Amino acid sequence: MPRPTLARVDLAALRYNYRLACQRTGSGQAMAVVKADGYGHGLAAVATALRDDAPCFAVACLEEALTIRQAGLTQPVVLLEGVHAPADLAVCAAQGFEPVLHHGQQVQWAMASRERPLVWLKLNTGMNRLGFPPAELPALMSQLTPAGFRVRGLMTHFACADDLESGFTVTQTRVFETAAAEFPELLLSAANSAAHFRPGQPLFDWSRPGIMLYGATPMLDATGMELGLKPVMSLESELISVRTLEPGMSVGYGARWVADKPTLMGVVAIGYGDGYPRHAGTGTPAAVKGIRVRLIGRVSMDMLAVDLSPVPDARPGDSVELWGSQVSVDEVADAAGTIGYELLTGVTPRVPRQYSE
Ligand SMILES: Cc1ncc(COP(=O)(O)O)c(C=O)c1O
Repeated sequence: MPRPTLARVDLAALRYNYRLACQRTGSGQAMAVVKADGYGHGLAAVATALRDDAPCFAVACLEEALTIRQAGLTQPVVLLEGVHAPADLAVCAAQGFEPVLHHGQQVQWAMASRERPLVWLKLNTGMNRLGFPPAELPALMSQLTPAGFRVRGLMTHFACADDLESGFTVTQTRVFETAAAEFPELLLSAANSAAHFRPGQPLFDWSRPGIMLYGATPMLDATGMELGLKPVMSLESELISVRTLEPGMSVGYGARWVADKPTLMGVVAIGYGDGYPRHAGTGTPAAVKGIRVRLIGRVSMDMLAVDLSPVPDARPGDSVELWGSQVSVDEVADAAGTIGYELLTGVTPRVPRQYSE
């Protein structure tokens, strides 16, 4: 018998979330962001599930784009970090990949190359991570266009779109629109998932939804479910031990949690070696047989403990949901002081992914 720990991936929910992104994008289109192994869900499976819906995919790097081709998909794939070596440009041209040019070195590589893939230009409108200053756009265009490059569009990335209180996205949008005004022939792409949930936010020609496709929240103040998203991954395991702790008995490494009354305690076959966050402390929610319980003590590599007081008839072999439709990944992330993105992308290869429609 294999260990009962697995990540169920609901591909119908993925498509539902993608269609929601498309509805919000209005007259524009949505490139499905499937980097980091489809945010931990399995890149080939996720892209294949979206093959009839998504007209374009976005990934971080060439290896990820090649995985999409190896899955037999023919859509354009945008490389959000662009290429990492000049030779990659030939692969892009041959495979229909569209690298983002975000740095002068990449422009030099492109100009020195015989290859002419479609490219995107990234503008730094305030994120200050990647991209050219908007003032450099005219010079870049007059360098690339006569050299035979077709610039498909302009891209930027928002730093604070998750925070409805922040005006920074409005500022970045204005900077982006002003820079783009001189080049009306170029397509525009700025919107990450969070931008889809900002009232009045323009989403331009191509939005770039990532985390929302997987049902987790991109926002600071709402869960994915509250935003109308469906959870895609359900991280599950089973109880492998059930016992009663007497008052004064502790649980696990560091003896951090001590029973103050007789407490039914269960051990679940999942731990940080599976990507479950070690920082999830006592009180983090889970669900046993559909009933919400709380973690107690420290998470170990292969196991964690739960307080089974709400499930007095619990037995070894009972199902446990660590996150999914009963306990949202957003809640667990909150309890662990992180974000759903990190939890979903952090599920390790040890955990088999089981796909359903
Ligand atoms: C450039 C770029 N666009 C879009 C996305 C998708 O963002 P999100 O997952 O918040 O929708 C990312 C994710 O990090 C990104 O780096």
